[in-house]
Amino acid sequence: MRLLTAAVASLALMVGAQTVSAAPVEIKFSHVVAENTPKGKMATKFKELVEERLAGKVEVKVFPNSQLFGDNKVLEAMLLGDVQMAAPALSKFQKYTKQLQIFDLPFLFKDMEAVDRFQNGPDGQKLLGSLQKKGLVGLGYLHNGMKQLSASQPLKTPADAEGKKFRIMTSDVLQAQFEAVDAVPLKKPFSEVFTLLQTRAIDGQENSWSNIYSKKFFEVQPYITESNHGLLDYMVVTSAEFWMQLDDDLRVEVKKALDEAIVYGNSIAAQKDAADKQAIIDSKRSEVIEISDAERAQWVKAMKPVWKKFEGQIGKDLIDAAVAANK
Ligand code: LMR
Repeated sequence: MRLLTAAVASLALMVGAQTVSAAPVEIKFSHVVAENTPKGKMATKFKELVEERLAGKVEVKVFPNSQLFGDNKVLEAMLLGDVQMAAPALSKFQKYTKQLQIFDLPFLFKDMEAVDRFQNGPDGQKLLGSLQKKGLVGLGYLHNGMKQLSASQPLKTPADAEGKKFRIMTSDVLQAQFEAVDAVPLKKPFSEVFTLLQTRAIDGQENSWSNIYSKKFFEVQPYITESNHGLLDYMVVTSAEFWMQLDDDLRVEVKKALDEAIVYGNSIAAQKDAADKQAIIDSKRSEVIEISDAERAQWVKAMKPVWKKFEGQIGKDLIDAAVAANK
């Protein structure tokens, strides 16, 4: 009897399967920052556009604040099929390619317009394919902004950083950058930074205004030096396996929605950068230190030799192309 019931049930399932249309493709988008950031807002916009245009066909679920995966796990999870999209900082790809290390070189780009020129030019576009051999597809660049240095003590010249512990992303270039000023860099996940700063386990960190504001680092870091010494940008990625198994027409539509969401994210990045900096100043919790040209020149002199160290891994031509984008 039990056998018969099971047989009837499975027959019903099979019949049912023919009449019920296929379940929507699920895109889990995992990121580590707050929702009120360029990346958070871009992901939400992408979800809205997909829901509007591909209802019943594709479903996007956004997981912010390292809820699903932290930054050191997300790419492994993507290759296992546990998450379909993410936009890690360009500093977090070194296990997969050495070329993207270019974006970490200190004092490389003079402003975000130069970053745009390089990313949209032939070299930048080629770098979107640099993860291909590892099974990942670069779908586009997303901006956050320039990085600033926050600390428990005022940092005006490189000598002020000597012996201090700084949290960095998982990047050997960033490690070399802090070692160049005799500081002590520690590779730690983004989700741990606030507690490390609050408990004074570390002295400082580098990040964009938007991350310093949205993750409340400014509440536990009394000084922020406006150094603009490096770039915090992202690459939106997916796995080749997931991407290629999508129907052609769906893939085109999903990419279109993503491109539009990226344009939107990039269009608000500069405005958020300025607004979040102002909100930090207004809070009076942290003093924003402006450095003079002479002081800045000292940081450049100390950190720029890092370029030479990584020239072999990145490629001199690529570095030259990035420098040329400053003009
Ligand atoms: C960091 O880890 O400091 C940032 O990359 C976080 C982010 O994704 O902006």
